[in-house]
Amino acid sequence: MNDHAPSRTTPDLLQRPLRMLIGEQWVEAASGEVLDVENPASGEVVAAAPRGAAADVDQAVQAARHSFDAGTWHRLSGVRRERIMLRLAELLEQHHQELVHLEVLDCGMPISLAGKAIERGVDGFRYYAGMCTKIYGVTSDISGPRADFHAYSRCEPAGVAALIIPWNSPLVAALNKLGPALAAGCSVILKPAEQTPLTALRLGELALEAGVPAGVVNIVTGLGNEAGAALSRHPDVDKLSFTGSTAVGKQLIRDSATNLKRLTLELGGKSPVFIFNDADMDKAIPRAANAIFANTGQICYAGSRLYIQKESFDRVVAGIADIARNMRIGDGFDPKTQMGPLISEQQQRRVLEYIDLGVAEGAELVEGGGRFGESGYFVSPTVFNTTGKTGRLTQEEIFGPVLAAMPFSGLEDLATLANDTDYGLGAGVFTRDVGNAHMAAKLIRTGNVWVNFYGGTDKSLPFGGYKQSGWGREGGQDGIDAFLEKKSVYIRL
Ligand code: NAI
Ligand code: MG
Repeated sequence: MNDHAPSRTTPDLLQRPLRMLIGEQWVEAASGEVLDVENPASGEVVAAAPRGAAADVDQAVQAARHSFDAGTWHRLSGVRRERIMLRLAELLEQHHQELVHLEVLDCGMPISLAGKAIERGVDGFRYYAGMCTKIYGVTSDISGPRADFHAYSRCEPAGVAALIIPWNSPLVAALNKLGPALAAGCSVILKPAEQTPLTALRLGELALEAGVPAGVVNIVTGLGNEAGAALSRHPDVDKLSFTGSTAVGKQLIRDSATNLKRLTLELGGKSPVFIFNDADMDKAIPRAANAIFANTGQICYAGSRLYIQKESFDRVVAGIADIARNMRIGDGFDPKTQMGPLISEQQQRRVLEYIDLGVAEGAELVEGGGRFGESGYFVSPTVFNTTGKTGRLTQEEIFGPVLAAMPFSGLEDLATLANDTDYGLGAGVFTRDVGNAHMAAKLIRTGNVWVNFYGGTDKSLPFGGYKQSGWGREGGQDGIDAFLEKKSVYIRL
């Protein structure tokens, strides 16, 4: 177990100007412009990152293309690539406290949450290091009438891959994509969110130190509609893996049509949680509260719609409101903090607007409902009773600590309620009845269902969304397939 306490000294990364990684060079943006990096717990500017744009993206894509065409990475043996990836995993662990420090400073996460998330992220990276030696196709005797063939399929890296990630758990998001991309043999350009460039840049330094050849990992910081759009439109990017909003996901489909990039999209959600009367309430209530309040609701599969079987409705709502009222809100560096700030002033405004909207739609505000504190981008954990109300509060992704609670009857209306949304990412079911649990898991159209707990993923299983929650899957074999092309070879004997 790592000690999640932050390093006492300011991380070295913040004592020098931040630079982007292109090929083997650490560079400023071609324009010389920078973007401020804020600590969301205070609003203070803690660093300035290059404002990379089209010209910088072009350089990074060329560096990735060059390394890919030269085969500096994908032509290494699986064992060599695995060794380098494992070395990177070790370096990430050696620098754990520093990375946790950067993450808490950058996105405001409570320190224990950041520590555990990064530990799990590195475990996931190791899982994919192990896949380097397990990529192969099939041999076939041919199904057609002639038997005198030898045929086989090959798995080859997709090529140059752009990885565009969000700000809600930045290092983990980077590792989740970098692991399978590198295992598959791709050369990559990683673009962190403009709000959170710090851990991605440190990851780039550690990747070089671990022995990843120059040009295989490039890192461009900058705005979504500048650096991000340049990547998704670039004709020399073969594969694009994105995590973020559904609106941007749709834009990427349009922009990547230029050269029909392979796309993986991990998008938003409005995930339902169902609590049956027979659930173990001592566990169900805090876990349902955590489903929406963890990371200040800034989780793609946050359990933002809570359905409670009628007879238990008042008890569960009171229990969750109680947890919300007593939650310790504050700076992520304080080890007692349970909920940190939202990422930015913009997100704070957006969440407060949704709260106003909920009130305007006639929902009953049970707990919270406003800004918290004088500085920083805090919002109080908020609980609405939305019984009998349908509207944007119960349909749209808020990405903040705002829960909509309403009753359900039982298995008979569960599927209709669960599936009454454009999204399909996650769902939770709390019950002691095994039949109800499995039946619910079958009826709910989401990529993930958690029973008697909520959230969390494992690399052995696919992760992704139905409907407008995305295209494709990360995790497991699917995660690596997303960075591979398959080729069939026929030999006439
Ligand atoms: P976003 O989807 O705009 O940003 C995510 C990433 O996409 C960032 O790296 C950003 O720079 C990049 N990006 C933005 N526009 C782009 C474009 N046109 N082309 C290429 N890349 C682009 O998310 P944003 O605006 O920061 O947050 C707004 C809402 O999106 C949140 O309130 C939440 O509802 C949702 N969201 C969902 C996430 C998830 O994990 N499902 C993560 C982040 C945001
Ligand atoms: Mg945006």
